[in-house]
Formats: sequence, C-alpha cells, structure tokens
Amino acid sequence: MDFIRDYADWFYLIGAVLFILTLRGLSGPKTAIAGNRYGMIAMAIAVLTTFFVAENPVVWMIVGAMVLGAIIGIARARTVPMTQMPETVALMHSLVGLAAVLIAVAAIIHNNELAKLDVGLLQENGVNFHEMGKVHLFELFVGCFVGAITFTASVFAYGKLAAKKWAKTISGAWVKPVQALIFITMFAAGIHFFLTGNMTSFWAMTGLALVFGWVWIAPVGGGDMPVVVSLLNSFSGWAAAGIGFTLENNMLIVAGSLVGSSGAILSYIMCKAMNRSIINVLFGGAMGGTAVVVDAGDKAPRNHRSGSADDAGFLMSNADSVVIVPGYGMAQGRAQNAVKELANLLKEQGVTVRFAIHPVAGRMPGHMNVLLAEADVPYEDILEMDEINSDFPATDVVLVIGANDVVNPAAKDDPSSPIYGMPILEAHKARTIMVIKRSMATGYAGLDNDLFYNDKTMMIFGDAKKVVEDMTKAINGNGH
Ligand code: TAP
Repeated sequence: MDFIRDYADWFYLIGAVLFILTLRGLSGPKTAIAGNRYGMIAMAIAVLTTFFVAENPVVWMIVGAMVLGAIIGIARARTVPMTQMPETVALMHSLVGLAAVLIAVAAIIHNNELAKLDVGLLQENGVNFHEMGKVHLFELFVGCFVGAITFTASVFAYGKLAAKKWAKTISGAWVKPVQALIFITMFAAGIHFFLTGNMTSFWAMTGLALVFGWVWIAPVGGGDMPVVVSLLNSFSGWAAAGIGFTLENNMLIVAGSLVGSSGAILSYIMCKAMNRSIINVLFGGAMGGTAVVVDAGDKAPRNHRSGSADDAGFLMSNADSVVIVPGYGMAQGRAQNAVKELANLLKEQGVTVRFAIHPVAGRMPGHMNVLLAEADVPYEDILEMDEINSDFPATDVVLVIGANDVVNPAAKDDPSSPIYGMPILEAHKARTIMVIKRSMATGYAGLDNDLFYNDKTMMIFGDAKKVVEDMTKAINGNGH
C-alpha cells in the first residue's frame, strides 16, 4: 500500500485525465458508453487512492458509508424512470452541497482545536499559523457557503420538479429586498469569520447561506428549473473544488473544477438556445414556467389547413426524404417507440428518414436524444440543429411531432417577437410541413406560431402517439 501512497499524485493524474475523457465521451451518443466507463474507472482510482493516502482512516466508517451509498445509488439508478431524471439529478447535487458543508464544518472544528493546541509548536517550527490559517479559512468560507446554497437550492429544485407541495414558488415585491438582505448579511458574517476566525460568524454565515439557497431559487418558475439544475451542478463542482483545497486533495480540485466549468458551459448553452440571459432566469422572478403570454384577443382569426393521419401517411410514403422534428409533445405523449416504428417503415419503403434535434427541445438537456436512444433509433439518423438546418430546403416532408417554439419562424423573421434571435430548426423551408399536436395551443413560450398557418403546412390534430400509430397503420394499408 506504500506504493499507492508514494505514487498518489500519479494516480490522481491518471484519474483526472480519465475524467476529462469522460466528459469528451459524454459529448456524443456514440461515445457516451465509453465515457461512462472512463468515469467509473476514474472514480474508482480517486476513491481507492484517497483511501490509502488517508492518515489513520476509520475504516469501518468509510467502508460502511460507501457500501450504504452504493446500495442506495444502485437501487435508485435501476428504478428511476427517465422522466424523473431531472429531479434525481437535483437531489444528487444537494448531497454534494451538503457534503461540502459538513467537510467545512468538520475542518473548522478541527482547525479550532489545532489553533488552541498547536500554535506555539507550529511557530517554533517556523510556520506562521496566522497566515496559513487565513488561506485555509478562505477556502472553507467559500466551500461552505457555496455548498450550503447548493444544498437548499437543490432540495427546492428537486421538490419543484417532483411537484412536491412544500416547494412553493414565491413571488411579490418583498422577494428581491429580502434576498439582498440575506445575501449581504451572509457575506458580512463570512468576511467577519474570515478576518477573525469567530465561530459565531461562521455558524451565522452557514445558516444564512442555507436560507439564501431556498429564497433565491423559490421565485424561479418550474420551466426554468432545468437551467437552475445545471447551474447548481456547476456550483456543486466549485464547492467540491473549494473543499479539495481544504483537504489538500488534488483529485477533488480537478474533478470539482471540471464539474464546475462543464455545468457553467451547459447553463450558458441552454440559456443561449432559449434566448434568455442567465440573470433573467435566476432573478427574473416567478414566471410560472411560461416565459411570455401573448394576448391574442385583438388578433384576427387565422386560417390553417388540417388533414388526417391517412393523408399524411400517404404523402410521406411517396416522399424521397422525411425529417422528423420531435418536441416536448413527443415526450408528453410517450410516442418515441411509435415514432421509431414509423421511421423504420418509411425506410423500408426507400424513404430517407432523419431526426432533427434542437438543443432545448423538450424540458431538459438531451431530452429528445434520451427518448430516441430509449427507442433504439440509430445514432447516425439523429442530427443536431447545425448539421441539419441547411438540408431543409431540399427536404420533401418535415414531420413536426409535438414541437412548437423550436420551429417558430418568428425567432428569425420578427424582431418584435420575444424569442427573436433564438436559433430554430428551419422546418418552414421544407417543401411540405406536417405538424402533429392536439390543438392550436401555444408551447412553452406562449407564442403563436406562423409555421402552423403556412400554405405548405398541414396540421394533424391528436395525441402524438395515437396519430403516429395511425400513420403507420395507414402506410401499412391497414388503416383504410
Ligand atoms: P413547446 O414549445 O413547449 O411545444 C410543445 C407542443 O407540444 C405544444 O404546443 C403542445 O401543443 C404539444 N403537445 C403537448 N402534448 C402533446 C401530446 N400528447 N401530443 C401531441 N402534441 C402535444 O416544445 P418544444 O418545441 O419542444 O420547445 C421547448 C420549449 O421549452 C422551448 O421554448 C424551450 O426554451 C423551453 N425549455 C426547454 C428546456 C430544455 S433544457 N429542453 C428547459 C426549459 C424550457 P398542444 O397542447 O396543442 O398539443
């Protein structure tokens, strides 16, 4: 075991490289499984190395906690339905935040004991305890308050996503001043603790950070929670990195920074794809999951064309190329398997079928990719927005299944539209457009969609799964 201790930094370096490869692997569906494996190996290296470098570890406690954690983790991973993934992730982040707080508290208590006992000894050995203590206190200060905010904010995000009664969205003119007051008091207590090492200030800072996490996230609307979860992911990473400094564990610093920066990048990508600013999401107040509500009262009724699943099936089976654009409605209607069957059938008939994925289609990052992977749609048939957009003008039929905002041309053409500037899938450029949805209702952004009134568009009203199944029947000839 001395070998592991002597070469600990090398093991940590290998672990860090594997973590980087993990992120690289997870960036594409084909390499995601390999990415997951790298992550598992890296984590095993990190845990084992840390275990062997620890001085006088309380073995039963560490092994006991690991076994318990593994049992709960495996049980949860096996049973959690895909639809409950966002709240599960939020709950996991809360644990990282809690761990950061507990480590900081343990280190502070330990540090205080040291301060009482060893100052003289340290000074005799030429160590300036006061200076050393400052750096240490700063790391603990940051790790603890970021961890505390992450903990309660993630618990709230979990409650909100799981539709728990206690996770109530708060609103009102009092919210922002109260948030500011708590934040300033928390920060002042933290600075006081940092300058003096005063324990009362430390407890006050920790308590206020816990309250702040809740009050900060509670006004954010349910629809914005995915961005919040991704941001909390980032926070949990920074909290872990802060604690890595405290524990002088290089692996934790590297892994924490990777999580911190990748979470921040994902939040940025999501905000950009939704044409929102992160400040607007976090401090825009309660929007109840609907970004904008349009008053259609003064608008003249507009005409749209509707057709049946049979008509649509006939048109598609006679096309050369079909692009399927899935959206939130496909997830809501659990239509992915029916969609895959339809795609397979069309392919058998010689039609080129591809799927076009918008980065924020659905309600969570990668929502459509996950559903299509679950239905075993081949990865090579799934194209990202940038890859497919130039192909729409040469596409015979675009089949939009429960998508709305992500194909709204107002984002490109109408500078007065609230979503103007948001990148979209340019379905309106195809030769024929078919849209499956249950009504003419708006989507998440609450906006009317010109695509539905386009001369080239045929609306097929109904639940996504039922309509797609009817299309398949029609193409098979059973529907007639
Ligand atoms: P939306 O714009 O929300 O539109 C979904 C459409 O699906 C609705 O208009 C609805 O119309 C239809 N629908 C619902 N259930 C259906 C069912 N069972 N069968 C058939 N149709 C059904 O979805 P989108 O185009 O995927 O865009 C996503 C939106 O969510 C964007 O505005 C995005 O900014 C936002 N958002 C995304 C994320 C992430 S990370 N993906 C996070 C937060 C917010 P009917 O009611 O008429 O059926």
